[in-house]
Amino acid sequence: MEATTFIISVALSALLHHSLALRPNLDNSTDQNALLSFKFHVTSDPIGVLDTWNQNSSICTWHGVLCSSTKNRVTGLTLANMTLTAAMSPYITNLSFLRVLDLKDNNYHGTIPVEIGKLRRLETLILASNNIDGMIPSSLSGCSRLKVIDLSENHLEGTIPSELGNLLILQDLSFAKNNLTGLIPSSLGNLSFLRTLGLKSNYLHGPIPVELGRLNTLLQLHIGDNHVSGEVPSSIFNLSSLIFMIFAKNELSGHLPSNLFTALPSLTNLLLGSNLFQGNIPTSFPNATNLLRVDFSNNQYSGLVPSLWNLHNLSFLNFEINQLVSEGEHGLHFITSLTNLTFLQVFSVASNHFTGMFPSSIANLSGQLTMLVMGGNHFEGNIPEGIGNLGSLTQLSLESNSLSGKIPSTIVNLQNLFLDFNFLSGSIPKSLGNLSQLYEMGLSRNNFTGTIPSRLSNCQHLQFLDLSMNGLIGKIPK
Ligand SMILES: *[C@@H]1O[C@H](CO)[C@@H](O)[C@H](O)[C@H]1NC(C)=O
Ligand SMILES: *[C@@H]1O[C@H](CO)[C@@H](O)[C@H](O)[C@H]1NC(C)=O
Ligand SMILES: *[C@@H]1O[C@H](CO)[C@@H](O)[C@H](O)[C@H]1NC(C)=O
Ligand SMILES: *[C@@H]1O[C@H](CO)[C@@H](O)[C@H](O)[C@H]1NC(C)=O
Ligand SMILES: *[C@@H]1O[C@H](CO)[C@@H](O)[C@H](O)[C@H]1NC(C)=O
Ligand SMILES: *[C@@H]1O[C@H](CO)[C@@H](O)[C@H](O)[C@H]1NC(C)=O
Ligand SMILES: *[C@@H]1O[C@H](CO)[C@@H](O)[C@H](O)[C@H]1NC(C)=O
Ligand SMILES: *[C@@H]1O[C@H](CO)[C@@H](O)[C@H](O)[C@H]1NC(C)=O
Ligand SMILES: *[C@@H]1O[C@H](CO)[C@@H](O)[C@H](O)[C@H]1NC(C)=O
Ligand SMILES: *[C@@H]1O[C@H](CO)[C@@H](O)[C@H](O)[C@H]1NC(C)=O
Ligand SMILES: *[C@@H]1O[C@H](CO)[C@@H](O)[C@H](O)[C@H]1NC(C)=O
Ligand SMILES: *[C@@H]1O[C@H](CO)[C@@H](O)[C@H](O)[C@H]1NC(C)=O
Repeated sequence: MEATTFIISVALSALLHHSLALRPNLDNSTDQNALLSFKFHVTSDPIGVLDTWNQNSSICTWHGVLCSSTKNRVTGLTLANMTLTAAMSPYITNLSFLRVLDLKDNNYHGTIPVEIGKLRRLETLILASNNIDGMIPSSLSGCSRLKVIDLSENHLEGTIPSELGNLLILQDLSFAKNNLTGLIPSSLGNLSFLRTLGLKSNYLHGPIPVELGRLNTLLQLHIGDNHVSGEVPSSIFNLSSLIFMIFAKNELSGHLPSNLFTALPSLTNLLLGSNLFQGNIPTSFPNATNLLRVDFSNNQYSGLVPSLWNLHNLSFLNFEINQLVSEGEHGLHFITSLTNLTFLQVFSVASNHFTGMFPSSIANLSGQLTMLVMGGNHFEGNIPEGIGNLGSLTQLSLESNSLSGKIPSTIVNLQNLFLDFNFLSGSIPKSLGNLSQLYEMGLSRNNFTGTIPSRLSNCQHLQFLDLSMNGLIGKIPK
């Protein structure tokens, strides 16, 4: 009975196959089961990304699944921005050949499974921009081949596990925009290949660990918007490759070294705003030729500002809310030096102790300048006619100074104009009625006279207008 034998042998081989399939990690049916379970946890898939995930086709053809070419094992799962809603599934961790897991920009919720540490081959873990909560499992330190971890923009809480200092080849680490508490672990100083450390917008406190100064390949250090305190350890100024140093919105204090910018010559973005830093603006600032954005605002900086002729690419410069002064003949020279900066877009010195004649050189600032914010000082003299050269300007704030003379009729394009609390006089130029984008205008508490121009009613976007405490007559236009 040849036919029967044949049938039996087929059945036997199928059985054999089946039992092999049940042995963990030996073939791709483990992967298939893990992926089907992963799919099972998906509660919403509006664009039908997982429609291709059915048992009729090889898992390697499924959308978002990458396989090794030799063994047909799953090495990658990349489903970023696919509008999937699902609970994190521990079954993912059965994909023992997984190298890349990228679920960025979905609606994954629940906690990161502790079993994730089983993924010994994992190199890239991107779960950013989901709704994942719970703690960062310390077992993640078992994934010793990790190069990239991005868990930013979730609801993770608890502390950063110090065990992550064991991920010795990690290059990019981001936990930004979560609810993490506790200290920045000093063990992170062991990550000697780290390029990016992103911890911004959490509730971390305590000092910046001295050990971070050992990360000599670090390019980006983001710890802004936390409760980090104390002085910046001097070891940090050994990180000569640093491009981004973002410390804004913390409780950092003390003086930064005067050679800051020669020690960190590659800096393009230095954001120190809203801390407790004090002392002078570092004297090496004029040498920081790579800078694009610098923010010293809302600290306790005092003294003079150096001239900045050679910061050619600078586009954002914020000194507001400090105690800077402009004593002496050259005290405001730095403002003239900014006329050499072709790309300057935002410049603020608001709320400092600057004195002297309002510099007429502002007429020569970059044609790209959009915000000029100089209120809350003691500037005297006239607003120069040349301010009309600044054709891109949308915000001009000169309130609370001692300016006198008239409003130049050369002003164009503004959206926000604040000149309150000065000694300005004369009539309100009719030309202000041509500012079709005007949104807010404060001219209160000056010495303006004459009739309120009815042409202001042309400014259709005007939401806020204060002309009070002047000598004006006529009606506020509708
Ligand atoms: C797959 O993962 C689940 C949950 O972690 C576990 O219970 C199961 O034993 C795993 N199966 C295999 C074949 O690894
Ligand atoms: C598999 O293929 C068969 C025949 O083409 C079809 O009837 C069935 O619906 C498919 N199964 C799935 C899960 O898509
Ligand atoms: C498993 O891999 C084999 C080839 O090695 C392939 O023929 C088969 O379709 C794969 N199974 C699944 C479920 O993808
Ligand atoms: C996400 O996908 C939508 C279309 O599905 C696309 O418009 C959007 O640009 C994508 N966002 C990102 C960050 O890739
Ligand atoms: C952090 O926790 C608070 C209180 O538990 C919550 O209101 C807030 O939404 C959380 N923020 C994030 C980013 O998860
Ligand atoms: C890692 O860092 C910690 C704290 O800085 C230190 O005690 C430990 O010896 C380091 N481990 C390795 C392997 O370098
Ligand atoms: C800076 O680096 C040098 C050379 O690696 C080292 O000798 C020095 O102690 C470091 N300085 C600080 C403050 O860590
Ligand atoms: C600025 O750089 C020049 C040479 O490039 C150097 O001579 C000078 O000492 C530096 N100034 C400061 C304040 O670091
Ligand atoms: C300024 O930016 C340009 C283009 O981004 C770049 O080529 C140039 O090297 C920069 N200059 C300096 C001094 O950093
Ligand atoms: C202004 O910038 C130019 C290069 O764009 C430079 O050659 C010149 O020295 C700078 N001016 C001053 C006064 O430093
Ligand atoms: C603006 O620059 C031009 C050319 O460099 C110069 O002649 C003029 O005096 C400057 N104007 C002001 C107000 O500084
Ligand atoms: C306001 O203007 C009037 C007339 O133009 C002048 O007499 C007066 O001194 C000015 N007051 C102030 C505070 O500048």
